[in-house]
Amino acid sequence: MAPAPPAPVMPPTVIVTGGAGFIGRNLTQKLLDGGLRVVSLDNASDVKRKLMLQDIVADKSQFIDVQGDARSREIVSQLLRQYEPRAVVHLAAEIGVDQSIEDPLGSVEPNVAGALNMLQCCEIYRYIKSHQQQPFKVLIASTDQVYGSAIAGTTSAFTEEDSLYPSSPHSASKVAVEALALSYFRTFELPVVISRCATTYGPFQSPNHLIPATVSRCNDAHPLHVYGDGFYNRQWLHVSDHVEALMLLLKHGEPGEIYNVGTKWFSTVGNIVGDIRRMCRSKSEIVNVTDRPGHDRWLTIRSDKIESLGWRPRVPLSRGLSSTVSWYMARREWVRQIERLEEFNRQRVGLGRHNMGQLAIAQVEQ
Ligand SMILES: NC(=O)c1ccc[n+]([C@@H]2O[C@H](COP(=O)([O-])OP(=O)(O)OC[C@H]3O[C@@H](n4cnc5c(N)ncnc54)[C@H](O)[C@@H]3O)[C@@H](O)[C@H]2O)c1
Repeated sequence: MAPAPPAPVMPPTVIVTGGAGFIGRNLTQKLLDGGLRVVSLDNASDVKRKLMLQDIVADKSQFIDVQGDARSREIVSQLLRQYEPRAVVHLAAEIGVDQSIEDPLGSVEPNVAGALNMLQCCEIYRYIKSHQQQPFKVLIASTDQVYGSAIAGTTSAFTEEDSLYPSSPHSASKVAVEALALSYFRTFELPVVISRCATTYGPFQSPNHLIPATVSRCNDAHPLHVYGDGFYNRQWLHVSDHVEALMLLLKHGEPGEIYNVGTKWFSTVGNIVGDIRRMCRSKSEIVNVTDRPGHDRWLTIRSDKIESLGWRPRVPLSRGLSSTVSWYMARREWVRQIERLEEFNRQRVGLGRHNMGQLAIAQVEQ
């Protein structure tokens, strides 16, 4: 009998949860370009995943798209056993701040339970594989929102040592996820690394976020909505710089450590909307709408720690914004298709106390 052909040697594998999301989709392509095999786990529908992932350039055997929930012990442990990854990047999360104000439990529970399940499955997997002494890392995506707002106009940005003061149920859920991740590092020595990235923009972001939403409204000649007075200052991080930071942390991030990832490119939300209006040559009116309760005025972080590892943001806001606007202008049909799938498509939610009266009436009537 002829000997069986040797099994194909697979390149190292990375599991990306939330791989069909904005950052996950961009990270997935970068990992594939680097010759790695990627398993994406995302609970989005088949239609949404197809829209997000259809342009992924990869050999079929290199990219595995799995529909499933990060909260499922069965699915996550099966993927770990089957694909034996060198790393897990946990991006899966409900990220809408307004949605978290509208439905705190519906937003916080998936984030906390999803992260806890990932950590637990990773810990068991690592224990089973410990004899192989393969490198393994769990990278958890957190956010600059965990610090809450700095005093408006301050020049002192938050460092990783500063205390956390989240303003929304969403930001609070990320604090909880961080705490769980660090507890797994301390108790089980699970090699977790945490990124706290600034407000990210670029291609493949869902159209219910500021930049794609504003481009869509310009295209449709609809009024452009700005929350409150629009003076909400952010550090703007292009998704390619965000992805580069995650790639670096996968290689060189120290287990148990947290890394801020910000830029020097500040702008207020109001100015961003004005810039997009100009770029789109739109005549839409800018309308100040009811503010978000607890809205962080000033998100500002220092990134010295990750910069000491060699990371620098490369895409200035002026260049990144104009290329991003062009990207969405050229993909109107794609945006429309994704918009149709959004639960809260162009619908304002999360007014907190402003709509408590309505909620109370609804409860009494039940
Ligand atoms: N976008 C930003 O500005 C930004 C900034 C800093 C950090 N982050 C973090 O990066 C991560 C990804 O953010 P994004 O902007 O790509 O969001 P996104 O909403 O575009 O992607 C998240 C993906 O996770 C999936 N998902 C949600 N819950 C899941 C679950 N329980 N199981 C499986 N899949 C699930 C969603 O279907 C979605 O595709 C989040 O953890 C977010 O907090 C985002």
